[in-house]
Amino acid sequence: MEERIISSEVNESEVSFEQSLRPRNLQQYIGQDQVRKNLDIFIEAAKQREETLDHVLLYGPPGLGKTTLAMIIANEMGVNIRTTSGPAIERPGDLAAILTALEPGDVLFIDEIHRLPRSIEEVLYPAMEDFCLDIIIGKGPSARSIRLDLPPFTLVGATTRAGSLSAPLRDRFGVLCRLEYYNVEQLTNIVLRTAELFLTEIDFQSAAEIARRARGTPRIANRLLKRVRDFAQVKGDGGITLPLAKQALELLQVDRLGLDHIDHKLLKGIIDKFRGGPVGLDTIAATIGEEPETIEDVYEPYLLQIGFLQRTPRGRVVTAAVYHHFGMEVPAP
Ligand SMILES: Nc1ncnc2c1ncn2[C@@H]1O[C@H](COP(=O)(O)OP(=O)(O)OP(=O)(O)O)[C@@H](O)[C@H]1O
Ligand SMILES: [Mg+2]
Repeated sequence: MEERIISSEVNESEVSFEQSLRPRNLQQYIGQDQVRKNLDIFIEAAKQREETLDHVLLYGPPGLGKTTLAMIIANEMGVNIRTTSGPAIERPGDLAAILTALEPGDVLFIDEIHRLPRSIEEVLYPAMEDFCLDIIIGKGPSARSIRLDLPPFTLVGATTRAGSLSAPLRDRFGVLCRLEYYNVEQLTNIVLRTAELFLTEIDFQSAAEIARRARGTPRIANRLLKRVRDFAQVKGDGGITLPLAKQALELLQVDRLGLDHIDHKLLKGIIDKFRGGPVGLDTIAATIGEEPETIEDVYEPYLLQIGFLQRTPRGRVVTAAVYHHFGMEVPAP
């Protein structure tokens, strides 16, 4: 699969770049007002009672700020954060080693928590509920279980798929936070903030232009800004102006709604070959030479979200908005 500038997944080379842009506290965290307000109160209350914060589950699409929030939570609580991920914990012993190394009050951050093996989940339940571990020692008839006390800690779990989390695990989180796509105003503020950290001059219009094409996702907004900044540096005097921003984004082949050539190929394919649909996923996949799973997991979500595609029982249909976007006439039904 080719690399897309508007991919919402992080790519290997931008990990440290992202790290440097992360807001450090709730105050600097832009948008997600409901989540921010709730966390602010829960954190304040826990601190007043000198207790650990309830376990927190953060869920939502890639690039919306889950990892960032986990770090902010630890920072606001004034505690350390240990980071691991669902697929990294293979055996119960791996989890036991992490849990027993925690200091009182620490945040344990488990990314991609939906990928935690079920056998590990079962070790996690008593740890979350009673801060203890049940460990089996020995094998066969002589095996016995001993109970180990753990320091109180806050589990922060993050997942892009809340639906694939088991119900017993989900129920053990006291605080559930669903992250939403950002609106253009919020993304504009994120672009302005990042530009300030870059020491790059940018006007409001240019920031808004980048924000509109960022598909509701801070990660994409920051990535686009970085590329536009490169362009402005080479083609101008370093400052970002609207004409420069537009030229750069055109060169990157990201249109005014954040669609790239793959989105165009998909939408135009359905229009040209199937008169706008309905057409089955497998048929689309064969026509544009992609795997059905890739289309479903990677290409479709944003198109569905902005109302460009609809899923019907008979297949995918493009909406009138797509014809408008391409300057085409909407066919008569
Ligand atoms: N509310 C925000 N304000 C400012 N910057 C943000 C905000 N949310 C995210 N970002 C920026 O977007 C980038 C991606 O955020 P983050 O890594 O937290 O996303 P994520 O939800 O953990 O993604 P993934 O699902 O891929 O793990 C970071 O560089 C972060 O600085
Ligand atoms: Mg993350």
